[in-house]
Amino acid sequence: MTAEIINGKELAQTLREEMSKEVTELKNQGIVPHLTVILLGDNPASKSYVNGKKKASGETGISSDVIEMSASTSEKELLQKIHELNDDESVHGILVQLPLPDHINEQHVIEAIKPAKDVDGFHPVNIGRMMTGHDTFLSCTPYGILTMLKSYDIPIEGKHAVIIGRSNIVGKPVGQLLLNENATVTYCHSKTSSLIDYTKDADILIVAVGRPNVIDNKHVKEGAAVIDVGINRLENGSLTGDVDFDAVKEKAGYLTPVPRGVGPMTITMLLKNTIKAAKGLAESEG
Ligand code: GUN
Repeated sequence: MTAEIINGKELAQTLREEMSKEVTELKNQGIVPHLTVILLGDNPASKSYVNGKKKASGETGISSDVIEMSASTSEKELLQKIHELNDDESVHGILVQLPLPDHINEQHVIEAIKPAKDVDGFHPVNIGRMMTGHDTFLSCTPYGILTMLKSYDIPIEGKHAVIIGRSNIVGKPVGQLLLNENATVTYCHSKTSSLIDYTKDADILIVAVGRPNVIDNKHVKEGAAVIDVGINRLENGSLTGDVDFDAVKEKAGYLTPVPRGVGPMTITMLLKNTIKAAKGLAESEG
């Protein structure tokens, strides 16, 4: 079997075109969706992600600004800035780019953002709403993965979804979203013994480890949908995922490439959440 390659870039483009129409409608009603990103320090990867978010916002008609603060900013100053943005009615979405410098407690920062403006979907209130299956901001990478599976009509209900990686940003929430869609979910992680025993039974395999070639075709069931969340930079500068793409594409039913797979979908869902925030659709009162 040769896998159908899931074209995240093309799907993201289609969704963004639909969203830009929604933005125009909102603007006609006098609402300009606005995203504020806070970036601390000058981590090159974070800068590049923030630039991508800003560019994609602009292309969709969403206004955005980036507040650059020095790496030595105190937690108190950062929280003060977040409180100002919480109270600013022209700001619909707030995103603090992670990771933060070691002297700042990430959880304090995440919990300071008003849930109704938490377009990352990281606030415990929004995570709780997601877990209980209520309308909320879904965190962007898991939401992008779910959207990909649905757009390619990949069955989820009753299927075995195996997640490798248990981060708060990807692994845990994506498993929860698939459970909400009636999949049977198995979480694997660095302490799982005999990973292959689980992966070879997966109908949907989500790989979010952050190391190249963790999964090759012996790990994969014939016809499975394999979603590669990894973004690894090789010594020659090129990007690669966590999955051995060439090997797995001969066996899987569906496979995402890196780049042009999950990455463009993540940013797209951030735009979607920002529009949702502008519409005031989140149930959050917070
Ligand atoms: N750093 C890496 N991914 C993300 C993300 O999705 N949101 C934020 N805020 N920071 C990140």
